[in-house]
Amino acid sequence: MTPNPIKKVGVVGCGLMGHGIVQVAAQGGCQVVAVETEQKFLDSGLGRIDKSLAKLAEKAIEKGKPADAAKADAAAVRARISGSLDKQALADCDLVIEAIVENLDVKKALFAELGRICKPATILASNTSSFPIGEMGAASGRPDRMVGLHFFNPVQLMKLVEVVRTDKTAPEAFAAARAFGEACGKVPVACKDTPGFVVNRLLVPYMVQAIEMLDRGDASKEDIDAAMQFGCGYPMGPLTLTDYVGLDTTLFILDGWVKRYPNEPAFRVPKSLREKVAAGKLGRKTGEGYYKWEGDKKA
Ligand SMILES: NC(=O)c1ccc[n+]([C@@H]2O[C@H](COP(=O)([O-])OP(=O)(O)OC[C@H]3O[C@@H](n4cnc5c(N)ncnc54)[C@H](O)[C@@H]3O)[C@@H](O)[C@H]2O)c1
Repeated sequence: MTPNPIKKVGVVGCGLMGHGIVQVAAQGGCQVVAVETEQKFLDSGLGRIDKSLAKLAEKAIEKGKPADAAKADAAAVRARISGSLDKQALADCDLVIEAIVENLDVKKALFAELGRICKPATILASNTSSFPIGEMGAASGRPDRMVGLHFFNPVQLMKLVEVVRTDKTAPEAFAAARAFGEACGKVPVACKDTPGFVVNRLLVPYMVQAIEMLDRGDASKEDIDAAMQFGCGYPMGPLTLTDYVGLDTTLFILDGWVKRYPNEPAFRVPKSLREKVAAGKLGRKTGEGYYKWEGDKKA
């Protein structure tokens, strides 16, 4: 494992992804400051971390670790985490990771602010799923210090992090981000700044193909999903996966790509996807997407 040069990390946004990134960075030995817009969001993110660390300690005890040691480990991780509503707290961080709302203008404004606030050596990173890292790097005024660090949900469990370099990223900033990913217990893969990086570039067009297959009536949704589950060994089929990801999130990514890359034939919006989103059928979270859901289970 490459030694991790990142000692202090800032995470902006302590929501679904941000709280997980805060936790794995602290588990990796870094001091971490989480920055939010409002106290209630900060409390909620830190509360999720407390629950997750308590669960980890319980599991370690079940596996035979002495209770005192397991609790002390969790407390040591928690002691490395602090929260703030003031971005000035990020000034002396070695790395600041953005995990705020998926809106490019809002992200660019944040990176411009971070470029002014942070020490010159600070590496800036975005957890975006769909926007070009280079545009945020340009907004920050320090494109050579800008990388993508794309974690997967749930961050605490998913082993992958995509480490994205633009044509302006300095090799040593990229290497530091990669070493940080490893320190967080992740498998880092190197990606260029292309739409969807590696995972979503493969996954989203695959979901599109499955939805179009269903729309054409080539096969039922159950058979499409069973085919991929039992024929390819995937843990779930593409239509179940779309319901899990959220039809709105999938549509948002595709609409952005179609607008930005109109000549890429793999980027297109299936008819039923747009119709279902317009009808409020967003997948598991609304109880209906391609399937009907009762909580976490298909109805
Ligand atoms: N949800 C996923 O599965 C997933 C996976 C990979 C990447 N991502 C990306 O991660 C990012 C965050 O997604 P999420 O699902 O965690 O969203 P979320 O809505 O759960 O969390 C976003 C948090 O950012 C905070 N925030 C917004 N603007 C802010 C600002 N200017 N300063 C500080 N905090 C601010 C919000 O209060 C909120 O708590 C997005 O770019 C998303 O595309 C999401």
